[in-house]
Amino acid sequence: MLGTSERQALLNAGRESIQAVHKSDYGHDLLLGLSRLPRSVAPKYFYDSTGSALFDRICELPEYYPARTEFNILRSNASQIVEQMGAHVNIIEFGAGSLAKIRVLLDAFSPDMAPDRFIPIDISVQHLEDSAQSLRRAYPCLEVLPIPADYMKSEQLAYVEEMRGRKVGFFPGSSIGNFTPHETVAFLRRAQKMLAGGGLLVGVDLIKDGQILHHAYNDSAGITAAFNLNLLVRANAELGADFDLGRFEHRAFYNEPMQRMEMHLVSLRRQTVRVAGHDFRFDEGETIHTENSYKFTVEGFQDIATAAGFRPGPVWVDDACLFSVHWLESPHNTLVPR
Ligand code: TRP
Repeated sequence: MLGTSERQALLNAGRESIQAVHKSDYGHDLLLGLSRLPRSVAPKYFYDSTGSALFDRICELPEYYPARTEFNILRSNASQIVEQMGAHVNIIEFGAGSLAKIRVLLDAFSPDMAPDRFIPIDISVQHLEDSAQSLRRAYPCLEVLPIPADYMKSEQLAYVEEMRGRKVGFFPGSSIGNFTPHETVAFLRRAQKMLAGGGLLVGVDLIKDGQILHHAYNDSAGITAAFNLNLLVRANAELGADFDLGRFEHRAFYNEPMQRMEMHLVSLRRQTVRVAGHDFRFDEGETIHTENSYKFTVEGFQDIATAAGFRPGPVWVDDACLFSVHWLESPHNTLVPR
């Protein structure tokens, strides 16, 4: 187990490197994404402090059913879920956000089975530290070890990969739907290896009526629009870009053949934007694609998990079949070639 000073050193090193790398990464990725057609930006850049706070507000919107529904599924089935997880485990949460959901599970463990350690991984450094601090206050016996990192980047996760003891992953929010199909398999393969002998609890949004989906990503209060546009606010503040926020608009629609919600920023007129010394011309109606949110069937998702090496276990779904929570067993890999 890490001592306090080692833990602090890990945290500080992580914070400094992530802040430095992350800023220049955004500049680099944004320039690349704007030079490509169709234009796009990786959704991970939504989550600076403002973006993380806006996302927490999205999760409270009446239209945004995923957060609420998943929360209710976790609460109604918490005792079965923690039974799958097992006693004295290390829980690793990917893209942890505000750490509200894990509390429902922590509360369901009987004291003699309580997890040893909780390791939230998140790219939003300050948000992660604040939520970890309040979790420590609420669960003084739990060792909380936040890792400020991009959970898709391998170097930053070596510590978790080498950690001993039973490991269970927690990946709520259907963030898995924000990957490309290729990334989904890559992430699951990696998680399967990291969690061998344990398992992964993952929230997966389901295919449903297009109107419900439309409203979930086009709320009447405009929070979703502010969240999407925050990418441009960030570019102006951090990269000296000159996006005129009145000349871009949030657009989200369900792409039914692809089974995904698509989020875009639409240029409202012909215009030129300057980013880090480069000019980009936009036609009226031209978009920057900011995110996909894939929707699945229960069986379709289980097939993907199986292809990545997991053994699908119990699945919990709400009565209206809006959202699913899957337990995936991660077998020890017995076929490693020597
Ligand atoms: N991961 C969330 C989702 O796919 C992100 C999200 C919610 C989002 N609302 C949005 C992204 C609006 C862009 C725009 O549901």
